[in-house]
Amino acid sequence: MEPLRYSPRETADLLGIQLKALVGALKKDQYSPEDVWELRGKLQLEPPSVGTRKQLFLNFKGGTGKTSLSTSYAWRLAEMGYGVLLVDLDSQGHATKCLGFEGEDFQRTLLDVLVKKTPISQVIQKSHLPNLEFIPSNLTMSTVDLALMPMAGREFKLKNALKEVEAHYDFIIFDAPPSFGLLNLNALMAADDLLVPVLADFLSFHGLKLLFETVQSLEDDLGHVLDHVFIVVNSYNATFKLSKEALSALQEHYPEYLMPQVVRQCTRFAQASSEGMPIFRFDRDSKGAGDVQVLIDEVLKRLAASAQKKSAAQAKSA
Ligand SMILES: Nc1ncnc2c1ncn2[C@@H]1O[C@H](COP(=O)(O)OP(=O)(O)OP(=O)(O)O)[C@@H](O)[C@H]1O
Ligand SMILES: [Mg+2]
Repeated sequence: MEPLRYSPRETADLLGIQLKALVGALKKDQYSPEDVWELRGKLQLEPPSVGTRKQLFLNFKGGTGKTSLSTSYAWRLAEMGYGVLLVDLDSQGHATKCLGFEGEDFQRTLLDVLVKKTPISQVIQKSHLPNLEFIPSNLTMSTVDLALMPMAGREFKLKNALKEVEAHYDFIIFDAPPSFGLLNLNALMAADDLLVPVLADFLSFHGLKLLFETVQSLEDDLGHVLDHVFIVVNSYNATFKLSKEALSALQEHYPEYLMPQVVRQCTRFAQASSEGMPIFRFDRDSKGAGDVQVLIDEVLKRLAASAQKKSAAQAKSA
């Protein structure tokens, strides 16, 4: 794979500065991700802090876009200057592939952490961006549910394992498999926020109902309350009457969770993943990349608003 390089224009846009200011700080024909990272530090262009957010992309239904969205989301947050860890929970290893790696090339996965007590720092890998790291997955992960079954505290293994490293990151993003089991329960227990990619079809409703019941039982039985749930309609095609109807039904049933922006159907997602790239690397000007950017901006806005609300409430009670 060609090493990643940004043009001066792209670099200035990523840093949110004028081309002139970029050239003044470091003049080059092409910039590497490391150059961008160094410039960000030198020019003090770090994005506003969000604390550490652990965000899970989950839907028990398969093929709704969990991997396409979580990998592009994680990649883009890193390009925006956040420190990101992407955790591939799926034994299909698709998120690992989307970052340009083969799961089978790695000896260790999260299985070693959850079942064999390997410290999580030992399974974290570097990606092609300096501030994006990942935990790879491969077929060995398919045994994790069974291996967790007899263990004490089996729902809390991931949450506890992350404690060692979580302060190093702004975002820890989990790409979940389409299954209903102990691994996903661990992911839910570890997460602050849930992002649920859904397709605008009526089959998706059943999956959503099950997901919300699970989230409720997590609250009731295990005392874990998620801060945010964001439903994201993915692969939306407004020319289909059924999609429009399904979107209105989602707006009616889940108004407080449904994100205002949909991610439109965009063939670049499929092409990007077959090339082992997130969409922002494959085609940053595609409508898919644009829609994920709007999603990120909306999530960041809501996180900032709720952090503000929380600190105002704390100040009032102090
Ligand atoms: N917005 C989109 N437009 C067009 N195709 C898309 C879009 N999002 C995802 N796809 C395609 O849909 C398929 C399923 O997407 P993806 O693998 O991201 O879903 P998933 O929920 O992770 O699947 P699984 O449940 O198997 O993990 C892929 O071929 C992907 O390229
Ligand atoms: Mg997937």
